[in-house]
Amino acid sequence: MADELKKSLEGVLVAESSLSYIDGDEGRLCYRGYDIDDLARNASFEEVLYLLWHGELPDARELEAFESAMADERRLDDCVHRVVRDLAKADEEPMAALRSVVSTLSAYDPDAGADADDEAANVRKGRRITAKMPTALAAFTRIQNGDDPVAPRSDLDHAANFLYMLNGEVPDDVLAETFDTALVLHADHGLNASTFSATVTASTLADLHSAVTAAIGTLSGSLHGGANQDVIEMLKEVDDSEKDAREWVKDALAESRRVPGFGHRVYDVKDPRAKILGERSKTLGEAGEMRWYDYSTTIEKFLVEEKGLAPNVDFYSASTYYQMDIPVDIYTPIFAMSRAGGWVAHVLEQYTGNRLIRPRSRYVGPTDRSVPPLEDR
Ligand SMILES: CC(C)(COP(=O)(O)OP(=O)(O)OC[C@H]1O[C@@H](n2cnc3c(N)ncnc32)[C@H](O)[C@@H]1OP(=O)(O)O)[C@@H](O)C(=O)NCCC(=O)NCCS
Repeated sequence: MADELKKSLEGVLVAESSLSYIDGDEGRLCYRGYDIDDLARNASFEEVLYLLWHGELPDARELEAFESAMADERRLDDCVHRVVRDLAKADEEPMAALRSVVSTLSAYDPDAGADADDEAANVRKGRRITAKMPTALAAFTRIQNGDDPVAPRSDLDHAANFLYMLNGEVPDDVLAETFDTALVLHADHGLNASTFSATVTASTLADLHSAVTAAIGTLSGSLHGGANQDVIEMLKEVDDSEKDAREWVKDALAESRRVPGFGHRVYDVKDPRAKILGERSKTLGEAGEMRWYDYSTTIEKFLVEEKGLAPNVDFYSASTYYQMDIPVDIYTPIFAMSRAGGWVAHVLEQYTGNRLIRPRSRYVGPTDRSVPPLEDR
């Protein structure tokens, strides 16, 4: 067995996948062979989910059936609703609440207990989890704000229905399409940390709810999904500061601060998702206030020129969501709502021809010790 140490698994190939292809040098991302730019412009989130879970884009009849099956699963069981309410009243963090709710969903899933090799049951479970996460998140947010939850509507698509449940108003086409694009862009991204976490969990033949619950916990950290919330906090700091954005970021680097939304383990150039979200952020700015987009582009220009650091997906999702009046503390849960599609797809892939994932660590602690009597320690 090779003893070469690969700390943090950087660059290590551990699996074969036919889900997403990433070219970090060219800044290219494809889901099942379709370029992300093409999907973002020409496919809905539901079409992308179908593509990830079933391998091909749906035809019109398949899409209609899939959209209707997703819409049918939006409602939460009363017991799950009570859990959502209790978590909101306990002032739980939104990501932690989402993690607990997904874990709870397994108790009410008619396919709970299905074997890992029952692919049809696992697709149904994945559909329920993905359909119910927005309902739980919107209800949680409204209850925390002292409002009553809004029941899902089956005549709206996944993206528009979430904004409707969050705000109690049907969104206009620009908001609904922008949000749908954001969901498409976040749906999958190779073996990122949270997806790896889901895959490791699934490799023990644990169930899908366990895998998605583990993935939500992994996504919550500031080096992964948590970065989008940090970005808007930074833009707000810039806005409150006397300095211009360029000076602000220069000083932040001088204090050895990490700039959220920049850098990536896989991309050496601008993340293709950041390009598309940057366009959306600009469009929203042109219809309202340009300053959030302007701060962002100034910071991007400075960091590219001075540090060779390019923005990742979290950088422009932040100003996009902010301009859509989405509460900042649910940016990362929204990432989870979308990435659930990828987690489910990777778990299905892992279950097919599964082998336990079990790396090793090199032991560097003391050796050959013997246990002294308690009174001698
Ligand atoms: C994403 C991230 C964790 C990748 O990290 P990584 O591949 O382990 O890269 P490293 O942490 O080893 O960083 C490499 C170098 O770039 C610098 N760097 C990387 N990201 C940076 C950032 N956002 N701001 C400032 N410097 C950064 C590091 O300081 C390091 O410089 P050094 O070699 O002079 O010490 C890292 O870029 C980061 O922390 N980004 C901010 C958080 C973020 O946006 N996360 C979302 C990712 S989608």
